[in-house]
Amino acid sequence: MAGPKIFTLHLHLLLPVLLLSSSTANITPKLSSKNIPRTPPPLPILPLPSASQLAWQQGEMAMFLHFGPNTFTDSECGSGHADPSIFFPKNLDSRQWAAVAAATGFSRVVLTAKHHDGFCLWPSSYTNYSVRSSPWSSGEGDIVADLAAAAHEFGLGFGIYLSPWDRHEPCYGKSLEYNEYYLGQMTELLTSYGDIQEVFLDGAPGKVEKDMVYLFDSWFELIHQLQPKAVIFSEAGPDVRWIGDEAAVSGTTCWSLFNKSSASIGNTETE
Ligand SMILES: *[C@@H]1O[C@H](CO)[C@@H](O)[C@H](O)[C@H]1NC(C)=O
Ligand SMILES: *[C@@H]1O[C@H](CO)[C@@H](O)[C@H](O)[C@H]1NC(C)=O
Repeated sequence: MAGPKIFTLHLHLLLPVLLLSSSTANITPKLSSKNIPRTPPPLPILPLPSASQLAWQQGEMAMFLHFGPNTFTDSECGSGHADPSIFFPKNLDSRQWAAVAAATGFSRVVLTAKHHDGFCLWPSSYTNYSVRSSPWSSGEGDIVADLAAAAHEFGLGFGIYLSPWDRHEPCYGKSLEYNEYYLGQMTELLTSYGDIQEVFLDGAPGKVEKDMVYLFDSWFELIHQLQPKAVIFSEAGPDVRWIGDEAAVSGTTCWSLFNKSSASIGNTETE
């Protein structure tokens, strides 16, 4: 899991730093001397991070943009029945989002391509509940494309959130059909917008409808296949997660240490 991996990382990063300061203090000849036996670094106790986990950790800050019909209904979680006509951000300038993110030290932006209400900020071929049915840009717009381009222009990584819970889509609740729908949308997002650094998802609503199962393993395989450098973020990984719990409560000394053994997506309690 990301936590333990990152914890070990600190131990390993420390060593080059110490060697570097030693060399500036003219101890280099001694260190490289044949007379002084060198002790190799110890084996890691916990797993080491993958390259993409390491890049994620070094990026430090990601800006999460929750934007969509909820912005216009002033709600955190939409019902899935808001009329697409309410989505009309006349003066939307996603370049400005990226400019602010870059100017304030964020390394990537993550966008709610689809939140729980099921409304898609890109013109998905699998539903009409999207920007295509809104008056914004006369139904010709694509916020995922706009922000992906802006992120690229400002040197930021780009990530997407695709909500598993979908309160609009009629096939939600039929496991096979909906998992295919979700994978179809995921494929659109991961093949049309260039490099994606992060895919963010959750297990909401926790207790899903009777008979509805999220096939996380199939989703993760597809994501890793289509965007091998992307990290997958959820409360239980498989690649990265937030510090501590969703309420931002973490350990004091080992803030990135996490024992994954008893965690599963949608079931991690707030501590
Ligand atoms: C979207 O709307 C068009 C026009 O009404 C319709 O032909 C098409 O089947 C709809 N697509 C989906 C995925 O529902
Ligand atoms: C992780 O948690 C499991 C139980 O969930 C426990 O058996 C195991 O010892 C824990 N590992 C560490 C390193 O704390």
